[in-house]
Amino acid sequence: MSEGEFIPVNEPLLDGNEAKYLAECIRTGWISSEGPFVRQFEERFAARVGRKHGVAVVNGSMALEAAVAALGIGPGDEVILPTFTIISCAAAVVRAGAKPVVVDCDPRTWNMPTDQVAACITPRTKAIMVVHIFGLPVEMTPLLALSRKFGLRVIEDAAEMHGQTYRGRPCGSFGDISTFSFYPNKHVTTGEGGMLVTDDAKLAERCRSLRNLCFKPEERFVHEELGWNLRMTNMQAALGVAQLERLDEFVTIKRRMGARYTGLLTGTRGIQLPVAKTDYADNIYWVYGLVLDDAMPFDAKEAMARLARLGVGTRPFFWPMHEQPVFKRMGLFAGQSHPVAERIARRGFYVPSGLGVTDKQVQRSAQAIKDVCNGL
Ligand SMILES: Cc1ncc(COP(=O)(O)O)c(C=O)c1O
Repeated sequence: MSEGEFIPVNEPLLDGNEAKYLAECIRTGWISSEGPFVRQFEERFAARVGRKHGVAVVNGSMALEAAVAALGIGPGDEVILPTFTIISCAAAVVRAGAKPVVVDCDPRTWNMPTDQVAACITPRTKAIMVVHIFGLPVEMTPLLALSRKFGLRVIEDAAEMHGQTYRGRPCGSFGDISTFSFYPNKHVTTGEGGMLVTDDAKLAERCRSLRNLCFKPEERFVHEELGWNLRMTNMQAALGVAQLERLDEFVTIKRRMGARYTGLLTGTRGIQLPVAKTDYADNIYWVYGLVLDDAMPFDAKEAMARLARLGVGTRPFFWPMHEQPVFKRMGLFAGQSHPVAERIARRGFYVPSGLGVTDKQVQRSAQAIKDVCNGL
């Protein structure tokens, strides 16, 4: 890309073995979900996050739906999750007929705080859906203690956490079921795709069945339960295998990019930068997020419009679940306020931080951010 061109918020890196493995699918005719790359991807990805089983599916949203269904969560159950997340999390709970109970987020890490989760536990609570946000994991130790104390299931949404660890243990290794997304803005992409991982053979089998319309092995077209067709194709898995080979390199690229932004932006007036490090993890910068101080005379929408005029792509932060029109219409979250999420949803956005972003682009983006913050 030349100097003045628009800098996209994300571009994947596909210059490893992706083309070679894809060509193999076409050459061999294995393009459906029956092909060998699917198993390979499942085994290698699960091993990478220290789990016994991997079940590849069509995307991260459906991985969550299948996780909720596999754990038998349904009407009468409550699931605690953060309000600051993608709608897929709450949608999976609502579609299962259960009640989503949301908590606010921490103003620094943007992750769900343990004390708020503890305060939401009732006799109906069945699970905690832990969602790691933007590159830093949730503080897991106290949450896991809570789940043990109250006998709660843990669904860990590690969609944004490929290659991240919590106190040295891979993200994706903490849930009864943990889920991932392979959308192109993720460290490992398959175009569209997702994965459930677990150590429980029975749960894995259940996820496989739900993925495949709950066909019965012995009587194929007789169904005891309703599943979905969530099968990942061999072509997607081929991409996944190639991408996974480079995960360590990708994490290094992202960390370098995040440190570069922070170096360039530290001291800029009016913005909060991502937390680089906590005592349990170093940020992997799934995205490089910024939050405008209250003193700044414009909000994220305006900042994003100004950055677009300077050729810099951005995306807004998540819009909180308790403020979603679709859920309000259903009578959910009535009268609730979660001020941190409400604030960062209005004042937060993220800047070009995909794997394909060059150092020059980071420099240009950082300069544009400074100019916008300085009102130039
Ligand atoms: C935390 C989180 N969960 C779930 C998803 C959904 O994944 P997908 O886009 O693959 O459906 C995303 C997507 O970005 C996400 O960030």
